[in-house]
Amino acid sequence: MSKSPLPSELTPESTWLSRRQLLAGIAGGGLTLGASWPASAADQPTGKRLTFGAAPRYSTTEQANTWEEVTTYNNFYEFGTDKADPARRAGSLRVSPWEVRIGGEAEVTGNFALEDVLKGQALEERIYRLRCVEAWSMVIPWVGFPLASLIKRFKPTSRAKYVRFTTLADPAQMPGLRSPVLDWPYVEGLRMDEAMHPLTLMAVGLYGRALPNQNGAPLRLVVPWKYGFKSIKSIVAIDFTERRPKTSWELAAPREYGFFANVNPDVDHPRWSQARERRIGAGSFWSRQATLPFNGYANEVAGLYRGMDLKRYF
Ligand code: MTE
Repeated sequence: MSKSPLPSELTPESTWLSRRQLLAGIAGGGLTLGASWPASAADQPTGKRLTFGAAPRYSTTEQANTWEEVTTYNNFYEFGTDKADPARRAGSLRVSPWEVRIGGEAEVTGNFALEDVLKGQALEERIYRLRCVEAWSMVIPWVGFPLASLIKRFKPTSRAKYVRFTTLADPAQMPGLRSPVLDWPYVEGLRMDEAMHPLTLMAVGLYGRALPNQNGAPLRLVVPWKYGFKSIKSIVAIDFTERRPKTSWELAAPREYGFFANVNPDVDHPRWSQARERRIGAGSFWSRQATLPFNGYANEVAGLYRGMDLKRYF
């Protein structure tokens, strides 16, 4: 478990160095954080500023993708299947007021206002790699808190073996629901030990600002060692279950998307290789880098799967 940040660690601004800032620093003859570079209007972080602590032990030192890349190249099928659709169309999502229903095998259940869910949670910044099953990746400075500290508050019983998460499904706000591309609402799940792992994050922001709608406002999961589709957006329900939940992607294509979905360069998707990935914004369109087991988090999480055949449980 991570400790709460000391007041001296609290910082309203961030430790990240976006590629734009890095380039600006190089162009100016030194690495100066915040040096100006003629950025496009779309590359200025916007939205409510958050206050958070730093969590360097959980953060990669790789360069973060730019705000523009992180907020305009998205998968959020409730707003369409094109990468540009969420940024264009997610303005119709109303994120306040927001309620989260807690249900299933837990002592404390019911409907909770988002403010209540967040009460007492110390926010911290964690710079994580996100590896999409489509073989591209980004580095994103999230702001959030460990899912474990939320789960403890609701006191799951000994029968709770899994956690199921559900996204809002309101056709009035989400034009993508008209398409049957997935079985709505979007559902994801974790085994309890995965959910309790200190790397598993409930995100409420990125780049020091409240989450933009297209990135899953106001509350989303981030599981950095799994393919991006496990990181479910705009969560309205969290249920503790005895049986393994069926996830939307498993229901859509069970041979292609498993429940575990751990990033694994040795287990190909039936239609393409998972050995390499394209880092968005880095190099040419054709540059690829090697994909790492568990997306580079093997030291922290491989133990969760000891003795499991990861080719079978993909
Ligand atoms: N959550 C919901 N509700 N709907 C989605 O379509 N797409 C997933 C995941 N969470 C998705 C979702 C996929 S495939 C990825 S790669 C990540 O969100 C992308 O997160 P980002 O757009 O913030 O980078």
